[in-house]
Amino acid sequence: MSNIDVWKIREDFPILKAKVRGKDLVYLDNAATTQKPQIVIDKLVQYYSEMNSNIHRGVHYLSELSTKEFEKARKIVKKFINANFDEEIIFTRGTTESINLVASSFGKKFINEGDEIIISAMEHHSNIVPWQMVCEERGAILKVIPMNDDAELMMDEFKKLISEKTKLVSIVHISNSLGTINPIRNIIKIAHQAGAKVLIDGAQSVQHLKVDVNNLDCDFFVLSGHKLYGPTGVGILYGKKELLEAMPPYQGGGDMIRSVTFEKTLYNDLPYKFEAGTPNIADGIALGTAIQYVESIGLDNIYEYEMELLNYGTEKLLEIPELRIIGTAKEKASVISFVLDNIHPHDVGTLLDREGVAVRTGHHCTEPVMRRFDVPATSRASFSFYNTKEEIDALVKAIKRTILMFG
Ligand SMILES: Cc1ncc(COP(=O)(O)O)c(C=O)c1O
Repeated sequence: MSNIDVWKIREDFPILKAKVRGKDLVYLDNAATTQKPQIVIDKLVQYYSEMNSNIHRGVHYLSELSTKEFEKARKIVKKFINANFDEEIIFTRGTTESINLVASSFGKKFINEGDEIIISAMEHHSNIVPWQMVCEERGAILKVIPMNDDAELMMDEFKKLISEKTKLVSIVHISNSLGTINPIRNIIKIAHQAGAKVLIDGAQSVQHLKVDVNNLDCDFFVLSGHKLYGPTGVGILYGKKELLEAMPPYQGGGDMIRSVTFEKTLYNDLPYKFEAGTPNIADGIALGTAIQYVESIGLDNIYEYEMELLNYGTEKLLEIPELRIIGTAKEKASVISFVLDNIHPHDVGTLLDREGVAVRTGHHCTEPVMRRFDVPATSRASFSFYNTKEEIDALVKAIKRTILMFG
């Protein structure tokens, strides 16, 4: 048994008490976004009621206060992923913007005609499209690591794809539509041996397991605040300092400059070089609070408890003969994608919703994954440390009722 007191934790999340269509809310769409603990909501209210002010530019009290809080959040993120320097933590709008920043800036500086970029067959669209755009712009080639029928990356194929032409490998840590935990340590090692840099898409990992960028030795790591119990509209790009220093700015504007004349502009130091304009101050600060909350529960405890949920959920769902799980990797996070014989996932999602059960249906922004498994879409239940086995029972009951309704 894990150390999680789930009923006590649920008290921290006001929305979990909600009724949906007259039923208790069963929120199993955590891979799309997590709910927010009261402490994060309070921080946002506190920011706007007690310290709202623009940062970095003011000498007045409120500006100093909000600057201090914002920079404190940067330090919290740095410690959370074990980066070496504050300058390695760039605030962005989310994973998507972080990847686009690297694609645009690293691409301009380091990707040339004939170079290669490697991604995998289980990437989110936000880790496919920016690289396609770079390849088109720079005349580079995109290569894709295939996966086997259990949704595990084929490492032998990866070793065949990588060469001295590979400039960057960009890989998802945990797949949002399959739950697969990829062997990123190994991937990073192999890529570095070939002289390539590595970006890890951690949108689905930092909320489930401990990430140590120093230990992993990845060159870039990206995440979204809203999937980590923080607000929407804020995310992080971690990059090794010497790499970020070598990269040109992504956007031009205020805060990213040291001095401007019409003849020439000098750029600011890291991290501000990559933070043009007024950042998302309130949400950045509240992301710091969310991380402190997650740390107070402990990622080891979270991992252990969510594994219990994953095992329980997998066992119960597999008892339904009409149900097939898509994504059966040995190393999996608490995400279960499934299809039901002859019932479209959208109908499944709609009927589950009538029972108060929130799951996601569709291609989950991973159309190539759907094609690989020859399904139009899946239904996906994704668990957080605030979910209970009783909620999984409610999901199973609602699925059985759906099957009955469809005869
Ligand atoms: C694996 C993965 N990468 C990237 C993203 C994009 O994140 P965001 O929409 O927060 O930028 C998501 C969101 O679902 C994701 O699951």
